[in-house]
Amino acid sequence: MKIAPSILSADLMNMGRDVKAISDAGADLIHVDIMDGHFVSNITFGMGIIKSLKETTDVPLDVHLMIDHPEPYLKDAVEFGADMVLIHAEATPHIHGAIQTIHNLGAKAGVVINPGTSVESILPILPIVDQVLVMTVNPGFGGQKFIKEMANKIAHLDQLRQTNSNCNFEIEVDGGVDDKTIKYCLDAGADVFVAGSYVFGGDIKQRIDSLRIG
Ligand code: DX5
Ligand code: ZN
Repeated sequence: MKIAPSILSADLMNMGRDVKAISDAGADLIHVDIMDGHFVSNITFGMGIIKSLKETTDVPLDVHLMIDHPEPYLKDAVEFGADMVLIHAEATPHIHGAIQTIHNLGAKAGVVINPGTSVESILPILPIVDQVLVMTVNPGFGGQKFIKEMANKIAHLDQLRQTNSNCNFEIEVDGGVDDKTIKYCLDAGADVFVAGSYVFGGDIKQRIDSLRIG
């Protein structure tokens, strides 16, 4: 399993300190939530955060773009140092082409589905993605309640990759993940676990360790 703390819940005035803390605590990835105020009703960091993070840590960057029509931002995201770029299926009518663009730029590419989006709607692109991120809250804010029913989507995706040799994606979950809710995701077959408010809501090392036990 891979743990990806989300710096959405870090202390903005102490970002360097918090990034060092999660890196030292053994985070497998750093999850970076970039929001545009359109696709979701919140605004976070610009693309420049990716560059600053890359200069600060060796932990791979898992960049979650909550941006309508993300195409114009993909080049900067990859050139600034994103290892994985995640774009929403709902954010562009050209999701297949946008995934190809990320690959051509030299990064891994993932598709994200909101709670109201079905697995069926992304079937045609499953063979070309490195990751599928199943949102377990409606995106936009940290600290929301985990939507348990999303475990069915995780299990469906797990079954699809086991029965289709052309599918090699990892399954990631994001939203409301803590030491208890992580069990539903693990049992259903998820591999990568994003956690924001839980990781930063206490002793960072202890919280990350408790997710691994969970
Ligand atoms: C929500 C973001 C998440 C967020 C998760 O829209 O995509 O990555 O940071 O926060 P928690 O873990 O607090 O639900
Ligand atoms: Zn996220």
